[in-house]
Amino acid sequence: MAGSSSGSDVSRPGSDESGAGRRAVITGGSRGLGLAVARRLAASGWSPTICGRDAGALERARLAAAGDGLALNTVAADVTCEESVRRMFSRLDADGPVHLCVSNAGANKPQLLVRRGPEGAVRRHPLSDWEETIRLCLTGVFLTGREAAAAMVARDVPGVIINISSAVRRGAYGQSAYTSAKAGVDALTRTWALELARYGIRVLGVAPGVIDGAALRAPRDDGGRHAAYMNSLREHIPLRRWAGDEEIAAAVCFAADHPYITGTVLEVDGGGVPEHIRT
Ligand SMILES: NC(=O)c1ccc[n+]([C@@H]2O[C@H](COP(=O)([O-])OP(=O)(O)OC[C@H]3O[C@@H](n4cnc5c(N)ncnc54)[C@H](OP(=O)(O)O)[C@@H]3O)[C@@H](O)[C@H]2O)c1
Repeated sequence: MAGSSSGSDVSRPGSDESGAGRRAVITGGSRGLGLAVARRLAASGWSPTICGRDAGALERARLAAAGDGLALNTVAADVTCEESVRRMFSRLDADGPVHLCVSNAGANKPQLLVRRGPEGAVRRHPLSDWEETIRLCLTGVFLTGREAAAAMVARDVPGVIINISSAVRRGAYGQSAYTSAKAGVDALTRTWALELARYGIRVLGVAPGVIDGAALRAPRDDGGRHAAYMNSLREHIPLRRWAGDEEIAAAVCFAADHPYITGTVLEVDGGGVPEHIRT
């Protein structure tokens, strides 16, 4: 059973069946890191359910995985909506216990706190952008973790909750809302690890560096400024490259299986991502 303190469930090196039928839910599982985690769990014998708002995207991800011999289940839900998260967990619970919850849904929407506009006017970070990011990246993790914990405690399942944090959570240029949300995610991780240990539930964070994925490659209408900045930033990462989502997924699966890690955040960031560089 995931999270058992007996020490009997340490993943078996070389085995691709460490999940052995255990059930997992991964929010933000229709693409990117969440999908990589779900596919890796499925390859290890877990039964993962991927969650996202777009049912069509979930179904496409499920079919593509099935084509590769990996079985995924899907559930459409919005992690920013309390009722939607509760419905998701009651649907999951109808099929049995959930042993692992990966709170992965999140997005970064960079904004400077203030900036001088072209005519000298001072532009402010819109409150709506702050609230949107906090709602998704922090409240979403709170709602998901709360319902996962409630389901595990109700069924007396010594499960695991893994929250996806970020290497930039201590502050980073142009990211007031995202870094605040991710710092808050760390606080939830440590707090829940203390509160839930008595039920045998482990809680961990995984803090990725920059992932070489869709968000990084999204086209921008800025004359190449963002791409140039990111190229310079990459040279300041000690390993001088971005992370592959598979590498972060491997850390999540390690955390899911290791019975004696709780209340900590695994840094998977190539040695560190600078908070800001001057180009
Ligand atoms: N990419 C990076 O460089 C990087 C670095 C450090 C940390 N991270 C963290 O890693 C996690 C995944 O990032 P990613 O780049 O892989 O993301 P992504 O490719 O943009 O995927 C985001 C996923 O979240 C889902 N989602 C968005 N809003 C949702 C909501 N309200 N309710 C439920 N699902 C929702 C999306 O599906 P729908 O749109 O259909 O809902 C999608 O499946 C995030 O927490 C991010 O902060 C990423």
